Formats: sequence, structure tokens, C-alpha cells
Amino acid sequence: MSQITTFEINEPLDMHLHLRDGEMLKLVGPLTSNTFSGALIMPNLVPPVTTKEAMLSYKERIKEACSGDDFEPYLTLFFKDDYSYEFLEDVKDDIIAIKLYPAGITTNSENGVSSMNIETLRPTLESMSKLGIPLCIHGETNGFVMDREKEFMPIYESIASNFPDLKIIMEHITTKDAVELLDKHENLHATVTLHHLLITLDDVAGGMLQPHLFCKPIAKRNEDKEALLNAALKAHPKLMFGSDSAPHPKHKKECCGCAAGVFTSPIILQVLTELFEENGALDNLNAFVSLNAQRIYNKKPIKKTIKLVKKDFIVPAIYEAHGENVVPMYAGEKLAWSIEN
Ligand code: NCD
Ligand code: ZN
Repeated sequence: MSQITTFEINEPLDMHLHLRDGEMLKLVGPLTSNTFSGALIMPNLVPPVTTKEAMLSYKERIKEACSGDDFEPYLTLFFKDDYSYEFLEDVKDDIIAIKLYPAGITTNSENGVSSMNIETLRPTLESMSKLGIPLCIHGETNGFVMDREKEFMPIYESIASNFPDLKIIMEHITTKDAVELLDKHENLHATVTLHHLLITLDDVAGGMLQPHLFCKPIAKRNEDKEALLNAALKAHPKLMFGSDSAPHPKHKKECCGCAAGVFTSPIILQVLTELFEENGALDNLNAFVSLNAQRIYNKKPIKKTIKLVKKDFIVPAIYEAHGENVVPMYAGEKLAWSIEN
């Protein structure tokens, strides 16, 4: 059998991305826009993005930071349970979704919802449902860290069955339970990250502690990783790629009280190609990294073909510019595929 040495990905989409703001945005923005056609941008800035003005001006700053590339940022709002129908109607054509965080569950989520009580959420979710605005959820309780996502499953189920017309995306799923839930409710979808297809808790904390692999939700057991990987490799039609690439400066990761977030943007397409190739699933990669998201979110992304070549790529130890820095996953390591310039 002849060895594959090149591979093309069309219109790659990252449906869960943290671009931050200010100098960090200028550093990390181009590390996505140079290879992706579009990305769904998380609203957990400080303060969070909750108004039309804040959202539109953030979009302008992203476009400015990524101005050298053909790239579409898809903006989101930070969920609040007192958004009026009129406000949502006015903003709906400018956003792709609204992101709900339980309060305090992850980085910059202090202003999230303090209770997942369905009656408290009902007015906003009803408006979103009527207006066709998808709901992205960070699905973790504040229980024991390994059980937080599993404990959230009944909440996903209750929202899914109470609002059958609401499109719900379970963000960055990390468990076998979440993969199984996808097939139980028509209106449930999910994103999965690159790192959760590759690592378990053992890689984070089984040996010397690896701060650059520490994120929320924490990586789980091997059987969870296998379930996620199988779903990704077959391009499960309700599963999309969303990196959750979440940059924090080196001094906030390599310290006592490490911030949660793995920075993967510059290595995603190379590592996905290697992973799908070694599992004989390259034919499904375009669906996983683009077509599924196009169908679920009903978007036609900017045309962009990224060519990968089987040639070593040494991941930089650190990315630095504009007075900011960030250490990527696999820093200093050798990857089998590179992006052709
Ligand atoms: C994200 C961040 O740093 O903004 N961190 C993370 O560990 N994934 C927030 C999030 O998506 O949970
Ligand atoms: Zn995230």
C-alpha cells in the first residue's frame, strides 16, 4: 500500500475557541486565523460579553488582529437569565450562539448562572428557542472533579426535553456518558477538543504534574478517551471539533495555582491528521473538522484549503509577541505532519 504523504483539509472550523483580548488576542488570533476558515469565539472576557456593543466591538478587534487572513469569527454572548426577547431578537443575526456557564465553574465564569433551575432559565431559553439561537453549555456541576460532567447529564436531559426546539451543544465533552447522551436527544450536539482525544488524567497528574495539560473539564479515564476518539474518528454527525484552545501566559501556568486551559491552536491540524491517519480514518477528517459544524450551525464558511505534508514539525517551546507569551501543548516535541506554506 502506498504511503500517504499529503492531505488536504477544506474550510477547517474550530467551534470552541478562546481568543482573549488586547495583546494576547494579537498573539493568538493569527495562530488560528492562518489555518482555520472560521471559529466560534467564547465570550468569557473580563467583564464577559453581554451587550451588542461589546460583542460587535470585540468582533472588530478580532478581525483587526487576524486581518492578514481570510477568517470569520463567529461571536457568542455570555448567557444571562434576564436577557429580554427584544434584546435577543435585535442581536440574533450577529451571533452564532449563547454560552451558558454555571457560576465559578471555570476561568472567568464568576458571572455565570448561580442555579441551573429550569424555571429560572425558562424565559431566556424560550426566547432563544423561538428565535432559533443555539445554546452552548459548559456542563459541569461543582461536585467531585472527576464526576462533574457525569452529574450534569440529567441537567442536559432536562433542558433538552423541556425545550425540544432549542439546539443545545454540550461543550468540550470528556466522558463516555456524554457521547452516549448524544444519541438520546435529537436536539443535543457536542464539541470535543483535541487534547481530550489524546490524554487522560494520568497524563496530567499520574507522574510529574503537567500544568500545560491542566484544563476544565479535567481529562478523564481511558474508557472515556476511547469513546470520544471512536466518535470523532467515525465523524459522529452530532459531534464537532472545538479545540477549547485557552491561552494563559506561562507565568500563570507554571506556578502555584495553575490556571485551567490547554493551548493547542498551532498544532491542531497537524495532530488531527496524524491521529486520523494512524487510525485509518482520514476520509472522515473533513466531516469532523468542518462539515458537521456547517450542517449543525447552518453556516457556509469562507473557502480555504489547508495542505498538510508528511514532514517533521518541531513545536515551538513558546510563542511570544506583543509582550505576551504562551506555551503550546507538545512544546518542543516533534510532530509527523506539517502545514505547507
Ligand atoms: C477555559 C479558559 O481558560 O477560558 N479554560 C479551560 O480550562 N478550558 C474556560 C473553559 O472553557 O472552561
Ligand atoms: Zn472553553
